[in-house]
Amino acid sequence: MLNIQYEHTTQPKQKPDESSLGFGKYYTDHMFLMEHTEGVGWHDARIVPYQPIALDPAAMVLHYAMESFEGMKAYRLPDGSIQLFRPEKNAERMQNTNRRMCLPELPTEDFVQAVKALVQMDADWVPHAQGTSLYIRPFVIATEPHLGVRMAQTHKFIIICSPVGAYYSTGIDPVKIFVEDEYTRACPGGTGFTKCGGNYAASLISQVKAHELGYEQTLWLDGVSHRYVEEVGSMNCFFKIDGTIYTAPCTGTVLPGVTRMSCIELLKRWGFSVCEQPLAIADVMKASRDGKLEEVFGTGTAAVISPVGELRYENEIAKINEGKIGAVTQRLYDTITGIQWGTLPDDMGWTTPV
Ligand code: COI
Repeated sequence: MLNIQYEHTTQPKQKPDESSLGFGKYYTDHMFLMEHTEGVGWHDARIVPYQPIALDPAAMVLHYAMESFEGMKAYRLPDGSIQLFRPEKNAERMQNTNRRMCLPELPTEDFVQAVKALVQMDADWVPHAQGTSLYIRPFVIATEPHLGVRMAQTHKFIIICSPVGAYYSTGIDPVKIFVEDEYTRACPGGTGFTKCGGNYAASLISQVKAHELGYEQTLWLDGVSHRYVEEVGSMNCFFKIDGTIYTAPCTGTVLPGVTRMSCIELLKRWGFSVCEQPLAIADVMKASRDGKLEEVFGTGTAAVISPVGELRYENEIAKINEGKIGAVTQRLYDTITGIQWGTLPDDMGWTTPV
């Protein structure tokens, strides 16, 4: 159990208009901080006014990208209370990331306690408008000033929060996705399964390319053969082909998404056949030509459930469900968001009150 010190802001900020939050533009009044020192462990847990952090220019995170992060949300319920969605899954994923990145791990109960404490402190910042939530961004950085490449001796764990609306400007309208066949996001043995900044930095070049071609996001193929679908820039990806639902297996190159895992559990409960196995992009495009590509959707904490209306692979375009959201995508969206915002009973046991 953490012993958290509290320092309240003396200058609370004005809250933004809930109808135009967008994603990741505003930050709450407070932040959580904790230090890690080799040989001592985690110490000095505190919540302080939101402020810039001082870092030595030689801090290892700035040179060798020694960092990890998480993404989760707090939701306002109809009765005014606040809840989290499977926060222990984010804690476990950060442990897996940190192990791979040689960063110090945090016990699940400390991670969840810190998140809850900050959300309680900034409870007024959890928005009320439909489709809005408080996005929570926990992260670990290596702070030791050192230019040799090795594990760092000092780190910080920080949590910041941002009231958000939809991740995509299109909201729940289908997004258009460009299938990347030149660049690679992840390879076996690499960091594809982790939530580390480097994965996202290396993906930007493809996002720029996709934008130039009029597409919102990139669908990554496997890094070895460039034949099998893996994931989209900020979400996992599902394909419904002739009644069966496919998604890439989590065998090291795909992010194990909390929303992904929740969708699979719901789909199985509803009696769908869900195949977590390699799916060739050639088979996706053939299914489209044969009229069997019924639905494509992405899942993620930020993106929630996002229907995909169009895929472009090489020079071929697959239009999905006439560019409209499909029935399974809609059912998943309604169920997951209903549980998250407390308008449906949580019979999966996924929510945690704050
Ligand atoms: C999330 O869905 O929480 C993410 O971290 C995706 C993206 C905003 C990086």
